Amino acid sequence: MRTLQFKNGDMMPNLGLGTWKSAPSEVFNAVVEAIKVGYRHIDCAFIYENEAEIGNALQKVIKDGIVKREELWITSKLWNNAHRKDQVLPAIQHTLKDLQLDYLDLYLIHWPIAFHDGVTYPKSGSDFISLDDIPIAETWQGMETVAKQGLTRHIGVSNFSIKKIKDLLTTASIRPEVNQLELHPLLQQNDMLDYCDQENIYLTAYSPLGSMDRNPAFKAADEPNLFEHPVIVEIARAHQCSTAQVLIRWAMQRGTAVIPKSVNANRIRQNFETYQIQLSEEAMDQIAALDKHYRFLNGGIWAQPGSSYTLANLWDEG
Ligand code: A2P
Repeated sequence: MRTLQFKNGDMMPNLGLGTWKSAPSEVFNAVVEAIKVGYRHIDCAFIYENEAEIGNALQKVIKDGIVKREELWITSKLWNNAHRKDQVLPAIQHTLKDLQLDYLDLYLIHWPIAFHDGVTYPKSGSDFISLDDIPIAETWQGMETVAKQGLTRHIGVSNFSIKKIKDLLTTASIRPEVNQLELHPLLQQNDMLDYCDQENIYLTAYSPLGSMDRNPAFKAADEPNLFEHPVIVEIARAHQCSTAQVLIRWAMQRGTAVIPKSVNANRIRQNFETYQIQLSEEAMDQIAALDKHYRFLNGGIWAQPGSSYTLANLWDEG
């Protein structure tokens, strides 16, 4: 299976190219290469600061006749400084202009975290606004408005807990159709997967390879390396594929979408060739046993002193 089907019949390819951390100077070639190889899903966000270069790449592949707009699935995300209802329209318009598109396939609330106007990255607790002051329900009304205007075909959330999705469903008139979150063998989130299955919400797995290219300042000293995990290495050997392919295929076989990031042509191709691999049931069982609820991105950057956010109220855990 290569696609996840939405209620209106739209199909989201389950493998997308991630673009977080892709430098503006590299992302143009990465996107063109990916689309030539066969990717039809590109995952973007305002905050990745590379949507204009992605837009140039999309223009090129469409103009060159490699792909038609309607064959692509383009996701983007609302940044934390545009959570007021009337800020969502200008935010998506900005993204659409950069991406040189008339509509998105999917627009997500990037984090259940709000900043004051004009704050891109918070420097202190006073840069944050609490969810009591801008409730997610208000932001969602803005999301519904842009969906009704046809600026995005689907809307969803990212980094939301089950509790936050449940709360949102009590007020939403258009239901969220996707939750994008960190998922990999060390953070399997089975409760989330089961809950979202019941609610017809798809999960998209970000950082499926462990995002080793993150800024070292945000990495734990003892951070595990998924590529070197002995169980993953052994499964890769047995299936005659790379460890990255094991990680990507595992996400697909669980019924989630997955968005590995790469700016390297060989790795972009290798990751796409994951479609040719099938993990055995035994391998899936072995990976199921690896869960540690370990987050590479624990959200600690949002839990600044003086802000209303804590790790406990971000993830609704503990
Ligand atoms: P690069 O962009 O140079 O290919 P994640 O998707 O979890 O954020 O991980 C992205 C990181 O994984 C990047 O450092 C990326 O490097 C690297 N990466 C992507 N695909 C592969 C692959 N097939 N093998 C090894 N590393 C990969």
